[in-house]
Amino acid sequence: MCGIIAAVAKCNITKILLQGLLRLEYRGYDSAGLAIVDKHGNVKRLRCLGKVKNLIKKTEKENLMGVIGLAHTRWATHGIPSEINAHPHISEYIFVVHNGIIENHEQLRKKLISYGYYFTSETDTEVIAHLLHLKQKQQGGSLLEVVLKTIPQIRGSFGMVIMDSRNPSILVAVRVGNPLVIGCGTGENFVASDQLALLPLVNSFIHLEEGDIAEISQNKISIFNIRGKIVNRDLIKSNISHDITSKGIYNHYMQKEIYEQPIAIKNTLIGRCTNKEIDFSELGVNIGIFLKKVKHIQIVACGTSYNSGMVSRYWFESLAKIPCDVEIASEFRYRTLQVRKNSLLIALSQSGETADTLAALRLSKRLNYIGSLAICNVLCSSIVRESDLYLITKSGVEIGVASTKTFSTQLTVLLMLVIKLGSLNGMQLELQHNIIKAIKMLPHRIEQVLTKDKLIKAIAKDFFDKNHALFIGRGDHYPIAMEGALKLKEISYIHAEAYAAGELKHGPLALIDNKMPVIVIAPNNKLLKKLKYNIEEVRTRGGLLYIFTNQDIGFKNNEYNMKIIQLPYVESVTAPIFYTIPLQLLSYYVALIKCRNIDQPRNLAKSVTVE
Ligand code: F6R
Repeated sequence: MCGIIAAVAKCNITKILLQGLLRLEYRGYDSAGLAIVDKHGNVKRLRCLGKVKNLIKKTEKENLMGVIGLAHTRWATHGIPSEINAHPHISEYIFVVHNGIIENHEQLRKKLISYGYYFTSETDTEVIAHLLHLKQKQQGGSLLEVVLKTIPQIRGSFGMVIMDSRNPSILVAVRVGNPLVIGCGTGENFVASDQLALLPLVNSFIHLEEGDIAEISQNKISIFNIRGKIVNRDLIKSNISHDITSKGIYNHYMQKEIYEQPIAIKNTLIGRCTNKEIDFSELGVNIGIFLKKVKHIQIVACGTSYNSGMVSRYWFESLAKIPCDVEIASEFRYRTLQVRKNSLLIALSQSGETADTLAALRLSKRLNYIGSLAICNVLCSSIVRESDLYLITKSGVEIGVASTKTFSTQLTVLLMLVIKLGSLNGMQLELQHNIIKAIKMLPHRIEQVLTKDKLIKAIAKDFFDKNHALFIGRGDHYPIAMEGALKLKEISYIHAEAYAAGELKHGPLALIDNKMPVIVIAPNNKLLKKLKYNIEEVRTRGGLLYIFTNQDIGFKNNEYNMKIIQLPYVESVTAPIFYTIPLQLLSYYVALIKCRNIDQPRNLAKSVTVE
C-alpha cells in the first residue's frame, strides 16, 4: 500500500530515490512523485500519473540534483489517481509523503480552510502538510518539535516522512500504524516503507516501532516516542541479498514465485520436520505444555491467507480433532465476539502488515484468548512483533501482488501445527508419520505437477474470450476452489466465483450454459463420487468443464464439453496444496494471453496497510 523512500546524503540522491521507487512499485502504482532539495535549499517536485517509469521519463528532462529528498508511489485511498493527488504534498516549505489514512481529515481540512489554507488536492495527506505549516507559523521550533506538537491532532494510521526545504539536512519519519524502516549508511541515511527498497544501499536497519518519531540527518539518527522522550531501537544487520528481487529466467515475478514453491516448502520444513515428529522448539521450551491447553483455534486473515486458513480448518478438525473457526479479519474486528474457552488466535498473513488482520490481533489481546500465534512471511513485521508466538513461512520475498508461494508455505506450516497439536491430543502415531511422510514428499510432488505447465498453458487459450468462470470443489478442496477463483479474478479480471460443489443446485446451476467454464478440483478422495454427481449436473446443462484430477474419473478428455487435466499422484492429505499449483498456472497463463499486468494488477497492491 503506497511505497515511501527518502534519503539524506552527500551525493545526488535522485537515482537512489527512483531505483527505490521501482523496487517498491508492487505496493502501489497509480501515480508517483518525488521532491529533492539541493544544498542551497533549491527544491524541485515532480509528480505524474501512472507508473514510476513515467516519473523517470519526467526526471530525465530535468537535471535533478539534490542531497535530501522524498519519493512516493501511490495506491489511492482519498482522491482519484491523478497528478495533483500524487505525493509529495506540500505547504510552502513543508513536504510530506504518507502511507495510511487520516481519519479526521475532513474536520482538519475545514479548520485549515478557515485559517486561509488553499487545498490543491483531494487527499488526506495535504492536510498534514498544512497542519505542520500552521503549527510552525504559530509556535516556531525545529521540524521535529513541530511534528511532535502536531501528531496528537491527527487520528488514523500513518507512516510518513517529512522535510522542510529551508533546512535541507533533516528528515523526520513518523510511524503510527504503518511500518517504516531506517536504512543506516555511512554519511548517508535512508527511510522506506519496506526494507526491500533499501537492500542495494545498506545492510543495517532500524525498524521503527509504533509511535516512534525519528529525526534523521546524514550522520545521526535519533528516535523519540510520541511524548518526545528518546528511545533506543536495535540496529539489525540483514544478510538478505538484493538479488532476491531479480526475475531471473522468468518473465514475471508471479511465474518465478510459482516455480519457487518446491524450494520454499523445503525451506519451511527445515529444522521443523524430522521423520517422526514436528519440532517447534523455536516456540520456546514450554510450548508443549502451552499447546496442550489449546481447545479451540480461531484463525483471522484476509484474501489468500484466509483461504489457507479455510483449508486448515478441515485439517484441524478431522486430524487434530480440535474445533477451528476461520474468519475474515475485517469482519472479526467489528463483531461482538464470544470467545471459546482456551482458544488460540492465529493471525495468518504473508506481509504481517495487513491492517485488518493486525487490528483483529490487537482486538484479541483485549479478549479472553489463551494466546496469539502469527504465521507470517516477514519476520520484522508488525503482526509478528505483536503476537505472543510466531512461525515464519520461509518463502523468501514475494513480490508478485498475487500470493502464490506464501499460500503453499502457510499451508505447510498449518499442517505441521495440525500434527503437533494432534500429537498432544491423542493422534495415532501411524497417522502422524503418514502425514509427515506426505509433507516431506510435497516439494517433489509439486515439481511433478509443474511439468503440466504446457498443458495448462494450452487450456488457458479457451479463456481468452470468457467473462465469467465458476470453480467448484468439495471438502478441503472447496477453499482451493476459492483460491483458484481469487487468483483468476485478480490477475485476469475475469469474474470468477467458487462454490462448494454440493451448492450448485441451490442457485448457481442457473448460470450454466455453453459459455460458462466450470473448473472442477477433483482429487482422488472419499468425496470424488459425490463430486461426479455435481460434474454430471453441469455436463447435462452444457457447461464447459475443466476437470483437474489425478484419477480416472470415468469421462474421456474432450468428450462432451469436457477437458480433463490429468495430474500426477499426490497423497490425500497434501492434495489441497498440490492442486493449487495448476490453478495458479491457469490464472497466470489466462492473464498472459489477456495481456494483463500480471505482477501489478489494476487497483490492487501488495500489503494492504489501510482499512
Ligand atoms: C491475493 C492476495 C491478497 C492477500 C491479502 C492478505 O493473491 O495476495 O488477497 O492474501 O491481501 O495479505 P497478507 O497475507 O499479507 O495479510
